[in-house]
Amino acid sequence: MPSLYAAMQKRRTIRRFKSKPVTEKDLLQIVDAARWAVSPGNIQPCEYVIVNLPRRVSEVFDCVKWENAAAPLSAPRAGERPAAYIVVLIDLMKKKSGGSTDAAAAVQNASLAAMELGLGAIRIEDLHRKRLKKKLKIPHHLHVDSVIGLGNPFEFPVAEECGDSVLPWADPDGVIHVPKRRLADVCTMNGYRFAHRYTRKNI
Ligand SMILES: Cc1cc2nc3c(=O)[nH]c(=O)nc-3n(C[C@H](O)[C@H](O)[C@H](O)COP(=O)(O)O)c2cc1C
Repeated sequence: MPSLYAAMQKRRTIRRFKSKPVTEKDLLQIVDAARWAVSPGNIQPCEYVIVNLPRRVSEVFDCVKWENAAAPLSAPRAGERPAAYIVVLIDLMKKKSGGSTDAAAAVQNASLAAMELGLGAIRIEDLHRKRLKKKLKIPHHLHVDSVIGLGNPFEFPVAEECGDSVLPWADPDGVIHVPKRRLADVCTMNGYRFAHRYTRKNI
């Protein structure tokens, strides 16, 4: 198993999947990982709906605004769709605002747990929420934060140190490259002064 640091470094958003189901056991384990996440005030407003019935999976797919994703991060091709979803909900009776912070931490746990199981994950916020709530009969007091698409990866994007642009790009083999800002560009020591930045030399 990779170290925790290596797992965090290697985790990538996966948008193309093999047409192979994900077991219920794995889906439950991923939700189980999500529920251990940090939560401001320990309120834990998140709830989860696992979707793995093919008809329901297809309905969730239709609720994602894939059309808004910019190339090369566009919609999965036919036969490459997520095999299952976890819908991340926020109970508005427990927390009226700020629940997305809880959800972000929960989704990060879920994504790393999926990775450990050999699965890929994508968090999607760009959704037809009304339609999704209706399809899945989600009660009024639960806000749909996002959905996590899951499956066996059919692509292996790589992260790289950022140059001028943070925009992901595809190489001639179709591999997605995801630029991440350099440590030297995001970190200062003992105050925010340029002089206190790490230089690339000493990283
Ligand atoms: C809150 C949130 C919402 C996101 N929504 C979408 C989305 O609607 N569609 C999509 O294709 N990717 C979505 N993503 C994935 C990001 O585009 C992705 O994390 C980013 O490109 C960096 O790639 P990485 O996850 O491989 O590091 C979302 C990520 C987060 C954290």
